[in-house]
Amino acid sequence: MYVLGVWDGHDSGAALIGDKGIVFAANEERFTKRKLEIEFPYNSIRAALAHEGIKPSDVEHVAFTTTEFTKTLERVFPPMKEQYYQFRRRKMLKPAFENARHNLKYGLTGIGILPMCGSISKSIVAKRLRGMGFANPKIHIVEHHAAHAACAAFTSPFKRSLVITLDGLGDGLSGSISTFENGKLERQIAIPARHSLGIMFEQVTNIVGMRELEDEGKVMAMADYSYPFKYEDNKLKDLFKIDGTKISAKYSAVKQFARLQKIAWQIPREQFAYMAQQLLEDALVKFVGGAVDRYSIGDVVLAGGLFSNVKANMKIRMLDGIRHWYVFPHMGDGGMALGAALHAKYVLDGTNSYDFGAYLGDGYSTEQTEHALKKEAGISCQRESTAEQASHASELISNGNYVFWFQGRMEYGPRALGDRSILAPADSEAVKDRLNLYVKRREWYQPFAPSMLDSEAEHMLEFDGKGHDKFMTMSYMVKNSHRKNAASVMHVDGSARPQMVGRENPMYEGLLRHLKKRTGIGIVLNTSFNIHGMPIVMSPADAVDTMRKTKTKYMFINGLFVTNKDGA
Ligand SMILES: [Fe+2]
Repeated sequence: MYVLGVWDGHDSGAALIGDKGIVFAANEERFTKRKLEIEFPYNSIRAALAHEGIKPSDVEHVAFTTTEFTKTLERVFPPMKEQYYQFRRRKMLKPAFENARHNLKYGLTGIGILPMCGSISKSIVAKRLRGMGFANPKIHIVEHHAAHAACAAFTSPFKRSLVITLDGLGDGLSGSISTFENGKLERQIAIPARHSLGIMFEQVTNIVGMRELEDEGKVMAMADYSYPFKYEDNKLKDLFKIDGTKISAKYSAVKQFARLQKIAWQIPREQFAYMAQQLLEDALVKFVGGAVDRYSIGDVVLAGGLFSNVKANMKIRMLDGIRHWYVFPHMGDGGMALGAALHAKYVLDGTNSYDFGAYLGDGYSTEQTEHALKKEAGISCQRESTAEQASHASELISNGNYVFWFQGRMEYGPRALGDRSILAPADSEAVKDRLNLYVKRREWYQPFAPSMLDSEAEHMLEFDGKGHDKFMTMSYMVKNSHRKNAASVMHVDGSARPQMVGRENPMYEGLLRHLKKRTGIGIVLNTSFNIHGMPIVMSPADAVDTMRKTKTKYMFINGLFVTNKDGA
């Protein structure tokens, strides 16, 4: 039996579950080259079927999610969605009545699900699928936060867990608490959209001049460049009240937007960002702490866009009541396709546990890669074994170079985890600055993150053993004794967002082992293989294109060592 998950909203994509488990998942942006694509995921669906070698008519079940009023309206009038995409990404000049547009958005999104929304959405999705050759599959609608919860509960290593979802909003809710025990996922509490911490943070992102639904991580990073405030002096502190598992927003989203603009007008933006981050951390710690106390379950699993905030996640991890934690790596709406499929399969046959890894996209053989690169002028390729690639890359990195590293199947989610990565020394500020300015073209305050051998975590980090982070979802403080070794992968406050690498990626682990032999420590700077503002590369052709645009000299790709004669 195959269940195909489809997500046709922000960061659209597809996921395929077969009898053996999750067989494929990818987001549409990687195909269309438009970051956080919003179009129906035709390319992702085709790639999922091609990966498994099946036809549309072989798929008996399709699941999709989110049938609230605005999402349904966008399905009926796709140009509306494109307009908002251009507006949100600031691809147009600032329009007149910008505030009115935002207020319209916040007014409409709060409406939630109305009668007929489900059946209208379903008929539109069915029509698109028929156009692709699907033969009348059974179509399942999965509620937005049920899809987030399914991702967290069914891919975590725990048989019993407390499942918490928080985001901007979806299907009229901004969060939920569920219990997962004895194979049953049961919702206990729903947080209405009106009380959305996610919308607050989205509005702050917009007000400091960044792109909502995209640059929230930059707000978090910028916050650390403010001088610290006591919480009593935080001008945003009254916006939310947390009482146990109850979240109350003082204002509606429309009024809150106006209030935030007034406050922001008076203070520098890094201080405003600090206040928002402090408010968020305080609220999340109280809320998650309240949930753990109420349900007495110490293994906590998290999903929803708010849990992309690695600094807030660190504060949550430090709660005494938390025994173990897990954050679903594609925590935002980009993970909705998989969430829909997981939930539908659970309802169909009770499947509630998966051996989850992030390497779920397409891969390319050495021959396919050679074929894609052979006509490229100025590019030379030399075959190397897996062991040679790991050793050679570690040699170049330890000599102060950065390299492109493209191996195996593409990662699902926002992070490069050693299959579509740019790697550099973890202790070189000079290489970090070069990467930031000339390759990634990012703002100066955005930190890079490390990958390290699993076994290094306890030596380098204030590591408590509550979870091994394979997916870069959590910050840790770097121990004072190791800050010199992590100079280019640490934030200004001494924290880092590590990937702890083990047998789930043997080739990458091999590279880190070689680095440890050469330098005494198994750590590397790992940033996603893309130019800032573009999606992570998908294919060898994308990789070589990025190599040219960034004048990069060295690339290790699927058993080939590639050099660019124009590389610096
Ligand atoms: Fe969401």
